[in-house]
Amino acid sequence: MQLYMPTKVYSEENCVVNHAAELRALGTKAMLVTGKHSAKATGALHDVLQALGETPYVIFDAIEENPSVETVMAARKIAVEEGVDFFIGIGGGSPMDAAKAIALMTANPEETEAVLYETKALPHLPVACIPTTCGTGSEVTPYAILTRHAHKTKRSISHKIFPVLALLDGKYLRHLSRNGLVNTCTDALGHLFESYLNTNANDLNSIYAREGLQLWAQFRDRLLADAVEAGDYETMLHASLLAGMAIAHTGTSLPHGMSYPVTYTLNIPHGRAVGLFLGGFVDTYEDKVRAQKALELAGFADAAALRGYLRQLLGAAQLPEELLQSGAEKLLEDPAKLKNYPFAITAQQLVAMVN
Ligand SMILES: [Fe+2]
Repeated sequence: MQLYMPTKVYSEENCVVNHAAELRALGTKAMLVTGKHSAKATGALHDVLQALGETPYVIFDAIEENPSVETVMAARKIAVEEGVDFFIGIGGGSPMDAAKAIALMTANPEETEAVLYETKALPHLPVACIPTTCGTGSEVTPYAILTRHAHKTKRSISHKIFPVLALLDGKYLRHLSRNGLVNTCTDALGHLFESYLNTNANDLNSIYAREGLQLWAQFRDRLLADAVEAGDYETMLHASLLAGMAIAHTGTSLPHGMSYPVTYTLNIPHGRAVGLFLGGFVDTYEDKVRAQKALELAGFADAAALRGYLRQLLGAAQLPEELLQSGAEKLLEDPAKLKNYPFAITAQQLVAMVN
């Protein structure tokens, strides 16, 4: 057993400005990696610019939802031309994941995009992450999920890139839409269950999932009732952070595997796509004692209660049968994805997980 969590985390109000010196110490020229709107709307971009002070920077704000390999390569070109030597990902999972991949490609300017999915030891430049959503946990994971149009799905790059610094401020979440909040909280719940019910789960790394599930239980009723209170945002951010630390050790499992083609094909947001399979996953899990323990930690009486909750929160799935079938068959052909599920599973069981 081992624990490895190399990211330095600060979580407090105004933490970007409070820890400006540590951010500036990462290099001599920064690339701020963001989407078009959220970094500005949340005030996070403003805080980062204040924290950078005189440090030169460039902004790359063209990160789309589910960022593509092509976008990463476009950003790398600018970063190399500009002499960037550290990266700050600001936003949800998309900019944070993209920042990791850009940091890798910029440190290796002679390499082509093919290297993203090759197992080859390569250096990368430092990355700091500032989450403005509460789902991905990317600020503490080594994963960078990119869309691969050639393969019609999403997949994490082969290189493990932990951010060196994660700066968390609950105030950035206040700008999330209802759907944004629901989708990202559901993603975090997926990470927590999929990490706790995982081949790689053990006494040491389960501490993250256990604590995260208990935090999730604190706001679950208010999230469902659309009655979130100011104090909930920090709890949501911490649940998501712990969920990230959990999957950094175990990886995700079947709901994430089933979600990727659904997101790619129907453009359903990541968290919602995961949530559509989550209740069925816990219901199907063969170690009933452990599954029940996880359910109770999150405040659910049983798997049926979780399924009912998610159906209310996310609505019915209504996914095309052929898409479910082909997604299940693809997943069954992929040993790398199946290895995190400790039991045998059939295509029929995978399809039946949908809510
Ligand atoms: Fe996720």
